[in-house]
Amino acid sequence: MMNTHQDSEQQLAASGPQAEAGEVFVDFEPVGRRGPCARGSTLLDCARLLGAGIAAVCGGHGTCGRCKVVPATDTVSGPTTIETTLLSHSELSAGVRLACQCRVLRDCLVTVPPESLSTPQRAQIEGLEVAAGSDPPVTSVEVTVSAPSMHDVQGDADRVLHAAGKGTATIDVAAARALPPLLRASDWALRLAIRDDEVIRVSNLSMPTLGLAVDLGTTKIAAYLVNMLSGEVLAAEGRMNPQIRYGEDVVSRMTHALTNEGGARDLCTSVVDALNEMTERLVASVGYTTDALVEAVIVGNTAMHHLLLTLPVDSLSRSPYVPAISAPMDIKARELGLRLSQGAYVHVFPNIAGFVGGDHVAALLAIDASPSGSPTLVIDIGTNTEVCLLANGRRTSVSCASGPAFEGGHIRDGMRAAAGAIEHVEISGDEVHVQTIEDSDPVGLCGSGILDTLAEMHRNGIVDRMGRLDTSHSRVKNSDRGKEYVLVSGEGRNGKPSIGMTQGDVRQLQLAKSAIETGIQLLLVHEQLAPTDLSAVVVAGAFGTYIDLQSAMAIGMLPELPLERYKQVGNAAGAGAKLALSSLARRREAVEIAARTGYLELAAEPTFMKRFVDNTYIAPFEMTEGD
Ligand code: FES
Repeated sequence: MMNTHQDSEQQLAASGPQAEAGEVFVDFEPVGRRGPCARGSTLLDCARLLGAGIAAVCGGHGTCGRCKVVPATDTVSGPTTIETTLLSHSELSAGVRLACQCRVLRDCLVTVPPESLSTPQRAQIEGLEVAAGSDPPVTSVEVTVSAPSMHDVQGDADRVLHAAGKGTATIDVAAARALPPLLRASDWALRLAIRDDEVIRVSNLSMPTLGLAVDLGTTKIAAYLVNMLSGEVLAAEGRMNPQIRYGEDVVSRMTHALTNEGGARDLCTSVVDALNEMTERLVASVGYTTDALVEAVIVGNTAMHHLLLTLPVDSLSRSPYVPAISAPMDIKARELGLRLSQGAYVHVFPNIAGFVGGDHVAALLAIDASPSGSPTLVIDIGTNTEVCLLANGRRTSVSCASGPAFEGGHIRDGMRAAAGAIEHVEISGDEVHVQTIEDSDPVGLCGSGILDTLAEMHRNGIVDRMGRLDTSHSRVKNSDRGKEYVLVSGEGRNGKPSIGMTQGDVRQLQLAKSAIETGIQLLLVHEQLAPTDLSAVVVAGAFGTYIDLQSAMAIGMLPELPLERYKQVGNAAGAGAKLALSSLARRREAVEIAARTGYLELAAEPTFMKRFVDNTYIAPFEMTEGD
């Protein structure tokens, strides 16, 4: 059987400019700017050339210490005296360097921490507002007990449980350790956080009961700090998934886990460290510490789920792609290395299948669409695009290996959504109008800009149905970087190259849009529906929030329907995680959704390959004759 994911991932293998003699290829993540640079130049010079936006407060003179980056080992020169002075011992041993000091020696992947970015990336955490559940998994109880005496020698924990009317409850060992000194310091009055007849936290009375909802995406992580009792979102943060340094897609990350000694541990640790950093920032932003957190809910695709829990990924990475577990799990946060309060738990969402995970379940939970209503399509566009068709009383999902092209990956001038990213494009004849994030000077193209460019090029006849560039067009150039349509010329860019779309980029986008179009078609065929039967199309996900639907329809990625049938809802998976954080009923509903959502394996469909090839044509969405 064909492996749609692996084969498509291979087809989507990296394209882009190659380094020439005297040059090395430098890739700045998570901003996603990459390209050839002169060997021996500083990483700050490379960042400037490629538009990676590193903070350089002292202008590169080695005095501010703000330009911290983490280059891959053995790819740059050794630390200078300035670095050994400005960086701590632990930073140096963790591989932190100053971009203005270290020089690139060979092809290099450079991780830029959020605090070193000159402008923050778009957090992409917006989504549906959700109300608090009335049945939170953790309750908060205030207790006052009398001090022990010669006539009352009951143990501290027994005394407290008794006073709380929870004589049969248990107490987490970390909470039991914290209890005696706390009782004596707090005049025998304290707050208990109780979950399923277990005291998971003891604290002073002023400690709030907060929770963390996390959407753990292949490319991005979104985290929300929530008041468990009111449902109010107190703070939110989005950042890139640092696992990106081990590969942009789930297949390459699973390969890293399978083929490298300690590879699974690397992947787990990098994401756990990122979650701990985000958590600490979030609670600090509202004046608390991680002791305030009594519960977390994490949703992610099946691969992210397995890599977080260090579950074996062998069976997930090969046909028939079986997950190690589909049921939801409740795990002590400390077992995962996550820093919440004493005995806090992490609730991990159930999976549907090997390539359809808890993030899709969470999105369906948040959207609250019933399969018995009128036909509705739910699309969560990402590196892996999940599509669900709710129709005829059934809910059926597919996973489309769309790859990272629409998120700027594998596209020569692609980048993440940060200042200077071209997010909208209009072409009229020889004229091009670009709109950048924060109106900054253009440095690359983010997802919505990439989609607009392709649609506009096609509308203007610059690229034909087959995806061939019109070489007679005045803006189509043949340079040493290959054939490209130039959006922003290199003139006046201080020696930086032009920004455009290459023939190779067009090919990547054809594959990506075909993967999505084919998935939607096969779902419609499965339910014997025509596109026009769809009464609603819900577009979820960070990329889906910002795209121009007309552009997506023009290239055939989405069915041509009146705009009012479309709804862009932002991060629905994050909204589902927030819902489940404060409601046991919502968690049961998520289990029900996971159990009752059918999975259609695209590769097993006889017409899959023909459709996939046909759908690479740049043309509006079309069902094949006989469907
Ligand atoms: Fe100031 Fe590097 S830019 S130390």
